[in-house]
Amino acid sequence: MSSNIIISKEEINRLQYAIKKVSSYDFSDYSYNSFYRRIEKILEDDKITIDYLIDNLTKDYNYLERVVRNITVNTTELFRDPETWFHIRMALEQKYAAKKSINIWHAGCSSGQEVYSLMILLNELGLLEKASIYASDINEAVLNVAISGRYKYHELSDYIDNFDKALNSDEINHGKFPHADIKKYMEINRFKDFVQMKEFLVEKPLFIKHDLVSCENIFDRDFDLILCRNVLIYFNHDLQNKVINFFYDNLTKDGCLIIGRHEGIIGSIASNFQKKDAIYFRRYSL
Ligand SMILES: C[S@@+](CC[C@H](N)C(=O)[O-])C[C@H]1O[C@@H](n2cnc3c(N)ncnc32)[C@H](O)[C@@H]1O
Repeated sequence: MSSNIIISKEEINRLQYAIKKVSSYDFSDYSYNSFYRRIEKILEDDKITIDYLIDNLTKDYNYLERVVRNITVNTTELFRDPETWFHIRMALEQKYAAKKSINIWHAGCSSGQEVYSLMILLNELGLLEKASIYASDINEAVLNVAISGRYKYHELSDYIDNFDKALNSDEINHGKFPHADIKKYMEINRFKDFVQMKEFLVEKPLFIKHDLVSCENIFDRDFDLILCRNVLIYFNHDLQNKVINFFYDNLTKDGCLIIGRHEGIIGSIASNFQKKDAIYFRRYSL
């Protein structure tokens, strides 16, 4: 359904400027079209004008936080894109299994399904104990869901099949984990409509609010694995490059970056990585 709302470029600039002025958020390098659509939706849903939106968010910080939450797209799944998990497994086994410790960062983790998926894979590989898991997102509300590890069954159930596809299916993992048992990792109660991740998974990661635009490494360490899937797609080309360079600088020498299935690294920075299937391996600096 097409919208009747028309927002000018000047209004979008004015809104981005207002947000930047009253907060640490900076959306000026987000993809214009995607940012426009999110604002259009807010105006439509709340039946307000852009002037009202700007006025209100400059006066009321809680309102601003709500707007920020609505600007971000938080769609995620358990074992999203199951075939990618085969490549992640290969990288973990070949590159990092022999290491004493593995540092992993999920940047833009949303409500945490990706984080729990990776922990399950690490556990099946016997690598969970030596992994340190960090996960961040700009949106505090989804982070709180991630921290609780509790989901609505009806929201997660479509993706529970991904567990079998990613771990048990012959075509993806060549029967690698034929006995992976979902009940070991989560309590599923369809009648009470919840899925609760098991305590040993919930207590493992450090979830923290972090804005990738800042390009600050708040964790004070380099990472063997950075997953930033389906996040860069919301940024414009300049911001994508800035964030990819930032990841490059914060990967270990043999670290790798995993981005979304429909995302890619293009231009001169692509030469900093060697792409193998879905995984971008950092090239040694000269
Ligand atoms: C579509 S979700 C992807 C979640 C997960 N990585 C996946 O692939 O299923 C995108 C996430 O990026 C987060 N995000 C957007 N802008 C961000 C920023 N500047 N810094 C950190 N996270 C951001 C959003 O809040 C959202 O949770």
